[in-house]
Amino acid sequence: MKPISLFMSFLVAIVLATSYNIDAFTRNDFPEDFLFGAATSAYQWEGAADEEGRSPSVWDTTSHCYNESIGGDIACDGYNKYKEDVKLMADMGLEAFRFSISWSRLIPNGRGLINPKGLLFYKNLIKELRSHGIEPHVTLYHYDLPQSLEDEYGGWINRKIIEDFTAFADVCFREFGEDVKLWTTINEATIFAIAFYGQGRRFGHCTPPTNCSAGSSCMETYIAGHNILLAHASVSNLYKLKYKSKQRGSIGLSMFALGLSPYTNSKEDETATQRAKAFLFGWMLKPLVFGDYPDEMKRTLGSRLPVFSEEESEKVKGSADFIGIVHYITVYVTNRPSPSIFPSNTNEAFFADIGAYIISAGTSSPFDATPWGLEDVLEYLKQSYNNPPIYILENGRAMKHDSMLQDTPRVEYIQAYIGAVLNAIKNGSDTRGYFVWSMLDLYEIDGGYKLSYGMYYVNFSEPGLERSPKLSASWYTGFLNGTIDVASQDITTQLQSNFSGSSSL
Ligand SMILES: *[C@@H]1O[C@H](CO)[C@@H](O)[C@H](O)[C@H]1NC(C)=O
Ligand SMILES: *[C@@H]1O[C@H](CO)[C@@H](O)[C@H](O)[C@H]1NC(C)=O
Ligand SMILES: *[C@@H]1O[C@H](CO)[C@@H](O)[C@H](O)[C@H]1NC(C)=O
Ligand SMILES: *[C@@H]1O[C@H](CO)[C@@H](O)[C@H](O)[C@H]1NC(C)=O
Ligand SMILES: *[C@@H]1O[C@H](CO)[C@@H](O)[C@H](O)[C@H]1NC(C)=O
Ligand SMILES: *[C@@H]1O[C@H](CO)[C@@H](O)[C@H](O)[C@H]1NC(C)=O
Repeated sequence: MKPISLFMSFLVAIVLATSYNIDAFTRNDFPEDFLFGAATSAYQWEGAADEEGRSPSVWDTTSHCYNESIGGDIACDGYNKYKEDVKLMADMGLEAFRFSISWSRLIPNGRGLINPKGLLFYKNLIKELRSHGIEPHVTLYHYDLPQSLEDEYGGWINRKIIEDFTAFADVCFREFGEDVKLWTTINEATIFAIAFYGQGRRFGHCTPPTNCSAGSSCMETYIAGHNILLAHASVSNLYKLKYKSKQRGSIGLSMFALGLSPYTNSKEDETATQRAKAFLFGWMLKPLVFGDYPDEMKRTLGSRLPVFSEEESEKVKGSADFIGIVHYITVYVTNRPSPSIFPSNTNEAFFADIGAYIISAGTSSPFDATPWGLEDVLEYLKQSYNNPPIYILENGRAMKHDSMLQDTPRVEYIQAYIGAVLNAIKNGSDTRGYFVWSMLDLYEIDGGYKLSYGMYYVNFSEPGLERSPKLSASWYTGFLNGTIDVASQDITTQLQSNFSGSSSL
């Protein structure tokens, strides 16, 4: 997770109830090779920020900007507790685990020498997963650029990133590729470019640029996006040339996928929704599938949108074996006049470019389950982008960290969304996996330790960082081992009463 709050600032909660029917289902209704897993990322889970040769990333820098914040210095201490956590995953019956590699732990200066302790950690983690029959899904970049590269050339807004990121990926493929078959290059590429380059929350700095009309930050969204696509393509081409025939893995790019639906059935809102889809999906998907940016973006942005050379276009096209989807919420889209005038508030720049306002589809909170939004996304990708293979790399429900271990709203949310995935698959979507965010409570980008998504509770005030299962962990375990047939809310009630009697709490 993901800077959702950057979107939240536009959201106005309204009530537009939508009913959604999900038939009874079990794990066995999904294809056998479909992967159910859970996810984390390096900075949010590992901690051990200055242990054994790791150097700071831009995320360390930013989380330390606030008064005495320890940020992810310790987090869940996954670096030291990985065996314990893999055991929990195995007990849950997880089929796959998604994690990311800390670039500055593996290659502390960003390029050059490899840190042998960092290398060993990832080898051990992967071995531990494999020995429990858990498929690793590795993200190469989850926001944590080595600070040295940010200082040297500004990170993703500079084309130098392409060469450095490719060299880092080369080390990962060479060292881990025997045992890793699923690679995501860059996490939530779209919202990463929007939030960290266009919305003034640039990682690696304490005083971010915030003024569109003064600076270049509103341009930087699209420059970073362009470099992300080129870096992804470079890494993907390297894999195909040097590793794929031996290692037989696949490689994809991950995108933040908001559910998007017109607010009214007016022509204006329908068209605004088409534009929003072009900007939020087509921006990355059209180059990946068809080799160029959507016409809507070219028309609106003019010279602010970089141009692919013919050679670049060829490289980017076809460079994703699958699309990774990060999905949490659905919004209604309504038309906004004068799309190309910069607002002074950079937070709004991207939606001003689209020419749209967005309104939460959740009835009481943006986090309310709106599973039809995910089904729509999967259907849209199937119809508009040649039915690409898809992994849902994150889906989950934020709750206050202190809330009870009985996280019933999370259980209901996860259950509903898994049902939506099944509906999409039945209608032909090539979706191949689903990961709950998150395996356990993490250091979150929004809300630090106050807001969490974990199926395991982590007691951050206790030095041992003890893990305890929430209701959602029992639900997922039962779903995965086939004892839960998701037919009705009865399951939740039954689980709840069994759970409160459980001695482990
Ligand atoms: C920083 O933290 C200290 C100690 O908790 C507190 O007294 C001080 O007011 C804080 N400063 C700011 C700017 O928040
Ligand atoms: C942004 O920069 C422009 C030009 O320097 C200035 O006139 C304007 O007041 C600034 N806006 C904000 C919100 O700081
Ligand atoms: C199912 O797929 C067909 C063919 O792609 C499409 O026309 C239809 O709208 C889809 N149904 C739903 C409920 O999305
Ligand atoms: C977390 O740990 C603290 C300190 O040991 C303890 O007081 C508290 O009860 C624990 N919280 C939970 C929910 O277990
Ligand atoms: C299946 O999961 C449930 C938790 O929901 C657990 O109580 C049960 O022991 C598990 N059964 C098997 C066979 O693993
Ligand atoms: C709850 O416990 C009862 C009695 O042990 C058991 O029969 C039932 O399957 C359990 N339900 C779930 C959902 O684990």
